[in-house]
Amino acid sequence: MKSNLKNDVPLDLEKIPAHVAVIMDGNGRWAKKKLMNRVKGHEKGSQTVRTIVTASARLGINVLTLYAFSTENWGRPKAEVTALMMLLKKFIVSERDELQKNNIRLNIIGQKYRLPEDVQKEIDITLELTRNNTRMILNLALSYGSREEITSAVKNIAQKISSKALCVEDITQDLISDHLYTRGQPDPDLIIRTSGEYRLSNFLMWQAAYSEIFISDVLWPDFSEDVFIEILKDYQKRDRRFGKIECSISNDG
Ligand code: IPE
Ligand code: IPE
Ligand code: MG
Repeated sequence: MKSNLKNDVPLDLEKIPAHVAVIMDGNGRWAKKKLMNRVKGHEKGSQTVRTIVTASARLGINVLTLYAFSTENWGRPKAEVTALMMLLKKFIVSERDELQKNNIRLNIIGQKYRLPEDVQKEIDITLELTRNNTRMILNLALSYGSREEITSAVKNIAQKISSKALCVEDITQDLISDHLYTRGQPDPDLIIRTSGEYRLSNFLMWQAAYSEIFISDVLWPDFSEDVFIEILKDYQKRDRRFGKIECSISNDG
């Protein structure tokens, strides 16, 4: 999974993955290395988010999913959670115009209702402002966990069966996908995790069935457009076989 990034071929703009998802990890370690408070790492990390969102739209990525806060992250010390929520609010407000200018639609995946009310309010304003934008969808994963997502989908489907809106035979893989937060979107072609950990940490476990995975040692606050482009080039060299024997990179799965 970890790949050598010495790659001299140019990025092929015809083979840009339709959906890229990123586990933005390493803010704490970045701060620790600099003998700073973890919150400083989150602050620097939010600047990286801006860079990667803009670059993704420019490169022609259709869907960018960023894992910003997991259902498990609620278990962190209260001061860190509060600081993360404040930074999130700041980001949602400061990036509103940038998203609009770049024709990017914001979408939240996760338990939006668990976020502080003031944060939800700012999110709702940005959601409404950007809802008709068409260049790229930015999925921000907030209070997101795959197991929660799948559990909610199962409950939802069970309710429809008990009210006779659906019958058991209607349950298909597509129906399950249609009950996830990512309904209507292609599965991620590429999942990047920064900071060198080899795990999914409850991220897009259903959707990741055939995603290519790239683990980068770079800490999220140090992640840059150049590193991102090298990872996309590495992705373009992969043989995506989907269990079959033909080799090709394709966006349509
Ligand atoms: C990722 O950085 C940001 C969130 C999970 C909110 P971390 O805070 O997990 O940073 P490390 O893993 O401790 O370095
Ligand atoms: C995953 O990072 C969650 C986000 C990046 C938001 P964590 O730092 O929470 O994951 P673990 O604890 O190392 O698995
Ligand atoms: Mg971490």
